[in-house]
Amino acid sequence: MLIKIHAASINPVDFKIRDGELKLLLSYKFPLILGNDFAGEVVKVGRGVKGYQVGDKVYGRTNKDKIGTFAEYIAVEEDVIAPMPSNLNYVEAASIPLVGLTSYQALYEELALLPNQKILIQAGSGGVGTFAIQLAKIIGAHVATTVSDKGIDLVTSLGANEVINYKEKNFKDVLSDYDAVFDTLGGKQLEDSFSILKPGGKVISISGLPTEVTAQRLGLGRAKQLLFKLVSRKLKKQAKQYDATYEFLFMRPSGEQLATITQHIEAGKIKPVIDRVFKFEDTQKALDYSESGRAKGKIIIEM
Ligand SMILES: NC(=O)c1ccc[n+]([C@@H]2O[C@H](COP(=O)([O-])OP(=O)(O)OC[C@H]3O[C@@H](n4cnc5c(N)ncnc54)[C@H](OP(=O)(O)O)[C@@H]3O)[C@@H](O)[C@H]2O)c1
Repeated sequence: MLIKIHAASINPVDFKIRDGELKLLLSYKFPLILGNDFAGEVVKVGRGVKGYQVGDKVYGRTNKDKIGTFAEYIAVEEDVIAPMPSNLNYVEAASIPLVGLTSYQALYEELALLPNQKILIQAGSGGVGTFAIQLAKIIGAHVATTVSDKGIDLVTSLGANEVINYKEKNFKDVLSDYDAVFDTLGGKQLEDSFSILKPGGKVISISGLPTEVTAQRLGLGRAKQLLFKLVSRKLKKQAKQYDATYEFLFMRPSGEQLATITQHIEAGKIKPVIDRVFKFEDTQKALDYSESGRAKGKIIIEM
């Protein structure tokens, strides 16, 4: 299907791809058009397309080998998109796919989060955090999150039960007996996560070190499976000390899961959180702002 893109969101993966930080996970040839998710309008359909017609408003996250949404048009397969929520405009809809699917896969598939379970969502005021808090509240979980003073009101309005100002307190000194941690930060924060878990607890990270499972899921060869097994060995060992588990998630596109997210949005249970909207010609400024690491919610480019 050919899509006329009306808006795209910035994700840290964009500048990480540009800088070659994800070379071991994803291989791209440069020059390359960046951009991983979008909202737009169907302008042409191929013969095999069943569910969409010219004029439909859709949104999605592209396949990892066919990125390039910082553009006016993109060709995508039917299975990576969903109809846009009827109550959102293009800018709002573009804020959802990548962070929405990441949160969905982390909470439902990896953590199998249940009502009344306790979860820590790191960096609650970021693009992923603002979505994940809302999704965890739909599940009925008790949510703790970390923010600076600039993010306190935002995450409280999204339903977070415990808000920890990371500039004043270390989460590991105030939280205990947690069922799950959704780590979006990696490094020391990831290593400290295990100590707040109850036995049987789970840590899923999207910013830590990949494991052999990550390599298998991405279809990478034996050498990388072995390499990732080695680099994640310390984290697995730490997890074991606390009778917990560690896994890394590299999110994947899914039109089906996005359709479920659409239902939550149309029911008013999830709201887009947008920090700033840039013009298409200011894409570089939008990337710079994302790279500052200070965004509250999502950064959007409007075509
Ligand atoms: N593996 C995957 O599939 C996948 C998918 C999506 C995202 N990711 C990764 O996940 C990470 C988060 O993505 P994102 O889109 O949410 O990023 P983002 O929107 O750029 O995150 C920015 C937010 O992080 C907060 N923050 C920074 N340091 C913090 C700390 N030490 N403690 C608590 N909050 C902190 C900032 O708040 P303050 O300014 O107030 O500090 C800001 O609101 C990125 O590294 C991204 O690449 C991976």
